[in-house]
Amino acid sequence: MADVSVREASEDDCDEIIRLMQEFATHEGNLHLLKTSVQTLKRDGFGEKKVFDCFVAEETQTTGRPRLVGYLLYMWSFTTMSGRFLFVEDLFVEKNFRRKGVGSLLWASAMKLALSWGCGYMQWMAKRRNTMGINFYKKLGAVETNTDSIMTFTLDNDAMKTACSNIVS
Ligand SMILES: CC(C)(COP(=O)(O)OP(=O)(O)OC[C@H]1O[C@@H](n2cnc3c(N)ncnc32)[C@H](O)[C@@H]1OP(=O)(O)O)[C@@H](O)C(=O)NCCC(=O)NCCS
Repeated sequence: MADVSVREASEDDCDEIIRLMQEFATHEGNLHLLKTSVQTLKRDGFGEKKVFDCFVAEETQTTGRPRLVGYLLYMWSFTTMSGRFLFVEDLFVEKNFRRKGVGSLLWASAMKLALSWGCGYMQWMAKRRNTMGINFYKKLGAVETNTDSIMTFTLDNDAMKTACSNIVS
């Protein structure tokens, strides 16, 4: 086990969380798509109308300022059928800290929280090519829940503007 502990993120962690998000995006090959900034993180994670929460994994055996080596970003969501559930948006552990139980510690924090709220389940998405992530989730006992009958829709910013202007109110 690495010398790492997990805690809830605070606003002061935003610079470090962005650094990890950049590493994650680089790892996924889509750094050019990363639009989140420290300002939007502060607004959306710690502001009045926040929409996400985050656990961070912090190195404990350091001489200088403790570094973050991983994070798990999640949102609460709700279905009419089952009530509240926890949706995990991001899980990332720095390369040098992988296979040392850090991802499991982060995930355990989210699971304990979800259980404490009586959630029926947790949910997240993974790229089919992400064997590292898929192996991690399978070890946890997660099952794939794709169905042929459910579609996911996205309305991008331009499409929203066009659709809005086409709807006469
Ligand atoms: C997925 C990720 C978060 C796992 O974090 P981690 O700290 O390495 O995970 P743990 O050490 O807690 O591993 C727990 C178990 O998951 C499985 N696992 C994790 N990484 C694995 C890998 N590369 N290959 C096979 N199994 C793996 C193993 O069963 C492992 O248990 P073991 O080490 O006792 O065999 C980390 O690899 C990562 O950040 N990857 C890049 C980002 C990513 O893919 N995130 C998920 C997006 S959907």
